[in-house]
Amino acid sequence: MKFYNFILVFATLTIISFAILPIKSQNIFTYEDIPSVNASDSTPTIFKLVSYDDNTIVVHIIRPDLSYPIEKGILWVDKYLSLRTIYPNGSVVPVDIKLDIQDFNYCILDINGSQASPIRIYPIRSNFLIVTYAETTNLTDPLSYTDWAMVVDLNGNIYSKISFGPSFVDVATNQWYPDRAKIFANFDPDKGFIRYTPVTGSTNTIWQQYIVTEAGEINLLAQDNIPFKNNLSLLSNVIPMVDSKYAIVFANSTDVDTIDSPLTSRGGVYIIILDYSLAIKREPAVLYQTQIQGIKFINIDCSVSYVGIGQTCIVTSESTIRAEKKLYLKIDFLSSGTVINVLPLMNDIQTNPLIDQYNIASLPYGGYLLSGLGTSDGQNIVAGYLLGDNGESFPWNLPINTVTNFIGASKVLRNNTYVLAQLGEKPNWSLVTTELKKFELERDHGYDNFHIDTTSPVLDEKIALDIESLKIIYYNEVDLSVGLIKIFHENGNLRQIIPGTNDTFVTQNVDGNLTTVNIKLLNCTLNQPGSRYYVSIENNFVKSRVYQEPLYGVKDHVWTFTTPQIEEEFSESVNGQVRLTANGTVYFESLNERERKIFTTKLTEELADAIPVSHKRVTTNERIETDALAPQKQIFLSININQDETRKERTVKFAIRDLDNLIKNKFITVIASGEASKYLDDSYGYHRLPDPLFTHGLLGAFAVGLMISGVFFFAKDKLPGVKDTTIFLFKFCVAISDIGLDWVFIITKAKNVGLFIPSLVILIGSFNVSLVLALRIIDKELRDIEQAEKAKNESVQEENSSVQADNFKVWFNKNNIFVNVFTILAGTDLDILTLLDSKVKFGGFVEFNANFSKKTVQRIVKYSCINIILENIPQLVIQSDILRYYTFIKAFDENGDENSAHAYAKDPSF
Ligand SMILES: *[C@@H]1O[C@H](CO)[C@@H](O)[C@H](O)[C@H]1NC(C)=O
Ligand SMILES: *[C@@H]1O[C@H](CO)[C@@H](O)[C@H](O)[C@H]1NC(C)=O
Ligand SMILES: *[C@@H]1O[C@H](CO)[C@@H](O)[C@H](O)[C@H]1NC(C)=O
Ligand SMILES: *[C@@H]1O[C@H](CO)[C@@H](O)[C@H](O)[C@H]1NC(C)=O
Ligand SMILES: *[C@@H]1O[C@H](CO)[C@@H](O)[C@H](O)[C@H]1NC(C)=O
Ligand SMILES: *[C@@H]1O[C@H](CO)[C@@H](O)[C@H](O)[C@H]1NC(C)=O
Ligand SMILES: *[C@@H]1O[C@H](CO)[C@@H](O)[C@H](O)[C@H]1NC(C)=O
Ligand SMILES: *[C@@H]1O[C@H](CO)[C@@H](O)[C@H](O)[C@H]1NC(C)=O
Repeated sequence: MKFYNFILVFATLTIISFAILPIKSQNIFTYEDIPSVNASDSTPTIFKLVSYDDNTIVVHIIRPDLSYPIEKGILWVDKYLSLRTIYPNGSVVPVDIKLDIQDFNYCILDINGSQASPIRIYPIRSNFLIVTYAETTNLTDPLSYTDWAMVVDLNGNIYSKISFGPSFVDVATNQWYPDRAKIFANFDPDKGFIRYTPVTGSTNTIWQQYIVTEAGEINLLAQDNIPFKNNLSLLSNVIPMVDSKYAIVFANSTDVDTIDSPLTSRGGVYIIILDYSLAIKREPAVLYQTQIQGIKFINIDCSVSYVGIGQTCIVTSESTIRAEKKLYLKIDFLSSGTVINVLPLMNDIQTNPLIDQYNIASLPYGGYLLSGLGTSDGQNIVAGYLLGDNGESFPWNLPINTVTNFIGASKVLRNNTYVLAQLGEKPNWSLVTTELKKFELERDHGYDNFHIDTTSPVLDEKIALDIESLKIIYYNEVDLSVGLIKIFHENGNLRQIIPGTNDTFVTQNVDGNLTTVNIKLLNCTLNQPGSRYYVSIENNFVKSRVYQEPLYGVKDHVWTFTTPQIEEEFSESVNGQVRLTANGTVYFESLNERERKIFTTKLTEELADAIPVSHKRVTTNERIETDALAPQKQIFLSININQDETRKERTVKFAIRDLDNLIKNKFITVIASGEASKYLDDSYGYHRLPDPLFTHGLLGAFAVGLMISGVFFFAKDKLPGVKDTTIFLFKFCVAISDIGLDWVFIITKAKNVGLFIPSLVILIGSFNVSLVLALRIIDKELRDIEQAEKAKNESVQEENSSVQADNFKVWFNKNNIFVNVFTILAGTDLDILTLLDSKVKFGGFVEFNANFSKKTVQRIVKYSCINIILENIPQLVIQSDILRYYTFIKAFDENGDENSAHAYAKDPSF
């Protein structure tokens, strides 16, 4: 007995907890709304919920203004546009915007039981909202009302406004309908929106397409009107389609009596396709027709089908003669207007006595949500349930009748979460959210796209820097289309941009399996180690092969991958040039001095951003040269790439390779969209010029060598002693340039490789040692002579040696300055001292005839050996590091990078 009780309690608890669990899958989000402005002391009420593709929710709050008398049919509210943005990370940003508009906008009108406000918000491109309102010159005359809109961002900044034209007024009743005009964002929100409205006093309907620029300007793209036969066409809707076109869907039906033949259509659903940004008149296409008597269409809900192909409309109809339940008809059609499926939905619709009419919406993850508003115990309630494609129905996770506020604002987010406004309680407002059933969950492999099976690299993969292509595998066969595929660095820098129709870069498998698309990468595209990249695929990059219907793409930051962290070897600054196109040259030459300066600055900045490296690493010395070989006038601009002092960026070696690639492929990289860089000649790329110091040094040495050998060859037979002079000059030049090169080396090269201090120590150290040795040689020679003189004074000896000894002293005293100079030069090369005794004459002006003693000559040889060991060997060791560095550059020039070789070949100065 007790045991049974226990089991019973346990079972009950289990059942209760299971019963409670589903209810847990709803979340209540409550926000304590302390207004930043003077607001009425009334409960904040959610008037509208809108969302962006990234699931950011914008809540439009109103506060009834209690200081106004409560009129019948009009609720006055506080004179602010109050937006509360809920970001996906949960943070809420409230703004209360004081709009500069007439006060009559701040009201909610009750027109035949539905609430309408002139102020409505529509999300368009990321972070921007369109806010509608009205203006009038005569409040009491609805016909004088005009519709307006302004662009506002989520931080409350106002960008621009525009007038749409007269508001819609029902001329029969003189009733103003502030929300009869509808706005629909393009399927690609960057491409603007369409406004669709009936015309006052006519059966015409007007559509107007607008674009909102990145700077928040609204511009009209196209507009036209559609004449309808009767006002029944007011039952219509607009669907933004995947290929950026819009479709106007409308339904009409005729009175029973006027029909003469049983085969005549008594009603139908039609679409008119509108091209993007063009006003081309098209006849309606039939989606559905019926010969059944007494059918009346009462609702049309349409959307792009994320799971399937094309668009889906769900048409609600009822019979005017039989008291039947409502009928729901699902029509799938392509953007060409071709119907691919017509299906009556559910015959066993769950009847909820509280709900008069269900709205039906197709869900991002497949299936449909049916929801309707009703009242229970004086409160507004929402009831809803889910429907699969085959008509099977499922309950939702919210209570059967969920209380909501008097507007009943709700929204299904892109991630299949349903959000519903709750009754607020001063000072709070709150939302209830619940995840709706994901019918096609297993088809979503993380790309937010039900057409893509997998990719290579897969999501979040760590890739090698040198991958050559991307791969996308679709579930079904596709054809390539005009939409773009773009590769970005995580920070938003565009790396590569190609349309699906570019058959060099976008290919399908040759083996005939057309589910796979390959995208070739430039080697400058994923060029930063340790970085995250993402691929964004535009809508209509591919089409379904079977249906020829454009497929939607992949959003930013979804398909991401990272490159590995690698160290690049340092490389030093280079000079180079780019060439302007003929058009670019014409443009450049039309600029004045100051504008040219701005142009070149802009160009260096754009190139730095394109590589990318910091701005100060791309410079120009403003040198302009005309390309003599080009058929039309084209100029070269110097562009130098400076070495990376921070050691964190792309090194020069790779930066110039990337820059060359970027320019050569400018139409698929960011170069073509730069204000200045678009003028670069892609057939030229970036050409490296030889290092000027290096070039001048080489040229100088070459010239001197040429001169000396010239003198030598022409004069050797004519003048005796010329050979010696030549050798003398040659040795002298070598010594001088040795000093020069040592220093140039230290200052320009050793510094870059981090060997500045060791090189300096070795150079100065060995210089000092050699100098001491040289002084010692001279000193010894002089002392030897003195000794000899002493000896001579003591005992007269052979004339010969004393004469010789005497000669150096005499010569030394006469040519003191040469001895000093040569001694210092000997600091680098001791051997140079032998020049003093080379017997070379310069026109009888000086004669290098020092007459060293034998001992001295031996000493010079001996000390030279010491000198080599002390100076040259350590120097060689250190310089070998730099030599390696040079061969590295050289190897790079030879392989792979034909353009440098090209530059050397073309550059006349080389
Ligand atoms: C709020 O109202 C008070 C008094 O009515 C006024 O002094 C103050 O400037 C108002 N503040 C704002 C932000 O409008
Ligand atoms: C969907 O988006 C909303 C709003 O950003 C978020 O609160 C919710 O957790 C998301 N749901 C899922 C399943 O990611
Ligand atoms: C949440 O996201 C928004 C927009 O992306 C950002 O401005 C805000 O700083 C984020 N807040 C937190 C707490 O991360
Ligand atoms: C405003 O409109 C009303 C109704 O149409 C009209 O009687 C009145 O004269 C108008 N006032 C002005 C100033 O135009
Ligand atoms: C359409 O016209 C009929 C009369 O032709 C009228 O009774 C009805 O109210 C009109 N409907 C709308 C929505 O204007
Ligand atoms: C409904 O509209 C279509 C297209 O405009 C037209 O051809 C048809 O005659 C209309 N039918 C009725 C019953 O008005
Ligand atoms: C094409 O490739 C996909 C994925 O590799 C595979 O599932 C499909 O069966 C292939 N189709 C044909 C016709 O070979
Ligand atoms: C150069 O400019 C002319 C006239 O503006 C234009 O027709 C031509 O297409 C341009 N050429 C290129 C290569 O952009």
